[in-house]
Amino acid sequence: MGKLALAAKITHVPSMYLSELDGPHKGCRQAAIAGHHEIGRRCRALGVDTIVVFDVHWLVNSEYHINCGPHFQGLYTSNELPHFIKNLPYEYPGNPALGHLIAEVANASGVKSRAHSDTSLGLEYGTLVPMRYMNSDQQFKVVSVAGWCVWHQLEESMRFGQAVREAIEEHYDGTVAVLASGSLSHHFADNGTAPDYMHKVYNPFLEEMDRRVVDMWEQGDWASFIEMLPMYNEKCWGEGGMHDTAMLLGMLGGVTYQGKVEVVTPYFGSSGTGQINAIFPVPT
Ligand SMILES: [Fe+2]
Repeated sequence: MGKLALAAKITHVPSMYLSELDGPHKGCRQAAIAGHHEIGRRCRALGVDTIVVFDVHWLVNSEYHINCGPHFQGLYTSNELPHFIKNLPYEYPGNPALGHLIAEVANASGVKSRAHSDTSLGLEYGTLVPMRYMNSDQQFKVVSVAGWCVWHQLEESMRFGQAVREAIEEHYDGTVAVLASGSLSHHFADNGTAPDYMHKVYNPFLEEMDRRVVDMWEQGDWASFIEMLPMYNEKCWGEGGMHDTAMLLGMLGGVTYQGKVEVVTPYFGSSGTGQINAIFPVPT
């Protein structure tokens, strides 16, 4: 029936928005913005109608949650970095039908999940930043999935990802792209030192780990990566517990996945954290 046309792990650093504005940081994230433009271009070429985002800025304490409101509109200021993103206007169509299909399939597979379409839930910036660069013309419907899963197991998030794929391919009538929106290592600069780390990773240990991980992704060494993911998350301060990455890999087949990622925006440091835009080939 439906098609999963594109999958990617993406950055959403708020300095992308600063990069647009006049000031000392103008143009600093052009590579990341160009990467998002490229992913958006490919979604258009593939006939994508909906983009699903695993958003690590949406924290949940219990169950898996899908924001599939019919329409999103607002003026967003980040409560976490209010000096980076303030008064960001947004408007995107939603896709309640796809959101409910994902929840139904996940629940049927034993992963307790809820879809919210009759809701005043807004979007978080793990979704809003990429949509700004990929979807400014509102071409794509948007579904946002909570990816900061505080008390959940990474293995269960992989099964949730599997359910997303099954919902798309066996029940949905359309073409979908899925984005895991989160960083690699995620340790912010200590207070008062943020300017020093604007374009740096917090510690060489974290950068070495991240670069080795990207090598593994490019080589398609998924069995090794999935085995180390829980400890990588623990030792490298995974953003949102790296549940976005677990969902993405579960969706693509877990340890049986053989894809070799295509890096669209090379690894870079941002406020201490490790970032990338990379396309994960969808197995046919
Ligand atoms: Fe983030």
